[in-house]
Amino acid sequence: MKNKKLIIANWKMNPQTLKEAEALFNSVLNNASGYKNINIAVCPPFVYLELIQKLLKIGSYKLKVKLGAQDLFWENSGAYTGEISPRMLKNIGAEYAIIGHSERRWFLEENNEVVVKKLRAALDGGLKVILCVGEKERDDNYHKFVADQVNDVIKNVSVVKIKNLIIAYEPIWAIGSGISDNPKESAEMIMYIRKIVADKYNLKTAMNMKILYGGSVDSKNVKGFLKEDGIDGALVGGASLKAREFVKMLKIANNLKI
Ligand code: PGA
Repeated sequence: MKNKKLIIANWKMNPQTLKEAEALFNSVLNNASGYKNINIAVCPPFVYLELIQKLLKIGSYKLKVKLGAQDLFWENSGAYTGEISPRMLKNIGAEYAIIGHSERRWFLEENNEVVVKKLRAALDGGLKVILCVGEKERDDNYHKFVADQVNDVIKNVSVVKIKNLIIAYEPIWAIGSGISDNPKESAEMIMYIRKIVADKYNLKTAMNMKILYGGSVDSKNVKGFLKEDGIDGALVGGASLKAREFVKMLKIANNLKI
């Protein structure tokens, strides 16, 4: 069952100091205390994972926040300079990992082959994967573009592991642009993605899968997305870096009547 909305903060390459990371996270924890009707995860840069994990442990906060990573490597150990393994993430307390974010796909040229390797390693390592998909532009072929991304990846996920897969539909043109999608159009795309999952697995799997929207979500538009049938939550970049704004969004999600 997936009645609670899932809000995931993707801090990307921010903030610049440990102190700022601590202040941001503490402010969210202190001000969103007691929001029990939502699930929350925070994906900070690797270098802050330990700090966030400690802050979660030491505080007697009523807010339950899960820890996530923004990426990982597909091997668990070895001579891979600069990489971080699924096992390291699991050992530090991470539950989620974002894979296939468009910024990595386009800036670092990560293709579906790399995405699949990472996805398999993450799922085998017991992490929940947030797989990002989304079109570059809304042209005549954008459904096919997204369908290819989904199909290429999910055909490699076993029926046992599919439960740990979350999809984030993030139109690339909406990311960081301040121009979010129309919630109805996102909901339609998310239904289309569910149909692809249903065709590969079954209807129950498709309906139980969490599918989120991401791309310029903020406190002004979050309700519109979350109210749509089939949009199970939001992946939030820029707005998650402003504690007051993020808490506002969490409050809206928490108080939503669905
Ligand atoms: P944004 O980023 O909210 O800043 O558009 C979303 C994302 O990239 O996950």
